[in-house]
Formats: sequence, C-alpha cells, structure tokens
Amino acid sequence: MNVRETGIDEGISEVIVTTRSASGTFNAAPIGIITTTNEHFVKLYKSSRTFINVQETKKLAANVTSDVVLFVKAAFDDLGESHYSSLSGFPVLKEANSWIIFQAALAEKSTEYSLFQLTPLTIVINRKELKAINRGLNAVIEATILATRYLRVNDEREKEELKKQMERYAEIVEKCGGHREKEAMGILEKKFFK
Ligand SMILES: Cc1cc2nc3c(=O)[nH]c(=O)nc-3n(C[C@H](O)[C@H](O)[C@H](O)COP(=O)(O)O)c2cc1C
Repeated sequence: MNVRETGIDEGISEVIVTTRSASGTFNAAPIGIITTTNEHFVKLYKSSRTFINVQETKKLAANVTSDVVLFVKAAFDDLGESHYSSLSGFPVLKEANSWIIFQAALAEKSTEYSLFQLTPLTIVINRKELKAINRGLNAVIEATILATRYLRVNDEREKEELKKQMERYAEIVEKCGGHREKEAMGILEKKFFK
C-alpha cells in the first residue's frame, strides 16, 4: 500500500501525530507532514512533547482526520485514553480515517526545531472520506495554528496581531462552518478571547 492512498499528498498535510514516550505515555498533537515528490519529513519544535517522544522512540504515527474538534483538543489538552487504539503496539487515534506509522531519522537540526525524515512502516486505511472543501474547516485549522503560535511568542504587539487574525477566521467559521467547526472554534474562543 502507498502513503498517498491514506490522504497524505504532496505539500504539507495537516494530521494529528500520536507518539509514545520511552516510559509508555501517549501524546497527540496537530503536526504537518511535509511531502516532496517521493519523500516525507516532519519539522518539530523542540519545546513540544512530540519532539521529545520522537527523539526517544524514533517513531510517530500520522492520523489522517478532518475532525477539527480533535485537532483543537490535541493542540491544547491531553486526549483521554478512550481516544487511543493500538497498532503494532503503537498509539493511534480510533477516530482517524487512516494511520501511517513512520520511522523518524534526524535529517537536520537548528536551535529551535529538528527536521526528521520519515519512512513508512505500517499503513492502515479505515475509511475513505469524501469531503467537499469547506472554508469553515480550513479557517479552524488556520486559527488553531495561530493559537499555538500565540502561546510561543512573548511580544505583546505580535500577540494582539495574532488575536486579530484569529477573529477574522472566527467570522469565516461562523459563516461557512458546520456544527463541529463551530464547536472547535468555540473551544478556541473560550481559551483565547474570554
Ligand atoms: C494544523 C497545525 C499544524 C501544526 N504543525 C506543527 C509542526 O509541523 N511542527 C510542530 O512542531 N508544531 C506544529 N504545530 C503546533 C503543535 O501542534 C503545538 O505546539 C502543540 O501544542 C504541541 O503539542 P505537544 O507538546 O503535545 O507535542 C501545529 C499546530 C497546528 C494546529
């Protein structure tokens, strides 16, 4: 089976990455899988739990899903144990459409992040999802990225600018999103605007 059949395609595919620490604790976070013509990479900020776990186990699982509530929860909270399933002894998310377990080899590092090259070990497709483009869904993803950046920066002016951009995305979610997009945006608003 080919990685592309899982929904991960050329460019940057936003997925939820699940990892395990050396002592066995599970973690989930939204991460972009970078795909060139025939190679896969991931760029991980060194402050993240995902980076620490990948360093410890040299493995990660990409969970392909369009569930935006799961994206927001994985970004800011610990997902409860009930969300996880096991694939060859490695944590994956029950709700995901497909799972790819990758071996991760360090390719490049800087003070802020490390780039890992990914080699697929196991590929499972649970269902193929047909979905038209929804601006509300894309807007939640953009707003969640801004929110994670908001937590990393210290400059007050930059924080204000990020908030303004998030408000713009919230308007798009209100206009174009379905109930899951609105629920996800609601979690972000509660965390960052109230
Ligand atoms: C859509 C999306 C894509 C993201 N992509 C990355 C990424 O490629 N690399 C990274 O280090 N952080 C990325 N982030 C930020 C992490 O998800 C965020 O810092 C998270 O809190 C890390 O959680 P952890 O400490 O549990 O690993 C992304 C966030 C979102 C919402």
